[in-house]
Amino acid sequence: MTNAILLMGSPRGRKSSSNAICLFLQELFEKNGIESQEPFFLRNHVTTEEKMNDMLVTLEQFDIIVLVAPLYDDTSPAIVVKAMEAVSRNSSKYVNKRFFPIINCGLPEPFHITEVAIPIYHKFATTVGLQWVGSLALGAGEGLQGKDGKLLNDTGGFGEKVMKSLERAVESFVTNSEFGDEALEIFSLKIFYNRIMRKFMVWTNNRGWRKMAQKNGGDVAARPYSQ
Ligand SMILES: Cc1cc2nc3c(=O)[nH]c(=O)nc-3n(C[C@H](O)[C@H](O)[C@H](O)COP(=O)(O)O)c2cc1C
Repeated sequence: MTNAILLMGSPRGRKSSSNAICLFLQELFEKNGIESQEPFFLRNHVTTEEKMNDMLVTLEQFDIIVLVAPLYDDTSPAIVVKAMEAVSRNSSKYVNKRFFPIINCGLPEPFHITEVAIPIYHKFATTVGLQWVGSLALGAGEGLQGKDGKLLNDTGGFGEKVMKSLERAVESFVTNSEFGDEALEIFSLKIFYNRIMRKFMVWTNNRGWRKMAQKNGGDVAARPYSQ
């Protein structure tokens, strides 16, 4: 029986879009006869050498490694980098395992993920000897409302496209075929890309920052580098 591990790479933990995706996949795995377990929270396993070793041993037991993580500064959160570094140091144990990263970001366009992060994950896979079976880049992942504890099924039409892609990804795991590299724009914000809307967005964001600064005792008029 094929088995797969869900590496949950969001520092937010349980309430994250990454975890919502993992939970949906966990259910799909069960339905499709892929052996799995609860999502494996990277943030709990990169804190000590001992826990890191446990993670490495756990990973050895799985045929498919699915990494689900957010995009941070166009690349990976530190906990994911740590895990990848540990795997690279022990690469011989993971050769030919199938690897599939699912990355979500805040901005709507998935190119924020595909331009830099996906090539880095690809390079990681190639270096370690993992088999790249595809990737999924999800723009506007914040809209999945994982941080509010929502499951994909609870997001109305919003999670529909994502769930469909995940179903196809699992199908490809079952048939041992390549999924390919897919990028989804969950919704478009092109409406904001005209002059008036741009001005409005800058105004409303500045207002938000000022309010937050005032609330936290910040001096919004400070110009510390002006002299
Ligand atoms: C430190 C940090 C850096 C981020 N960098 C980016 C970025 O470069 N591009 C982007 O589109 N979103 C960025 N985001 C937004 C997250 O990718 C987005 O909120 C995502 O949906 C979080 O997923 P999660 O709930 O699975 O953690 C960043 C968020 C944080 C906290």
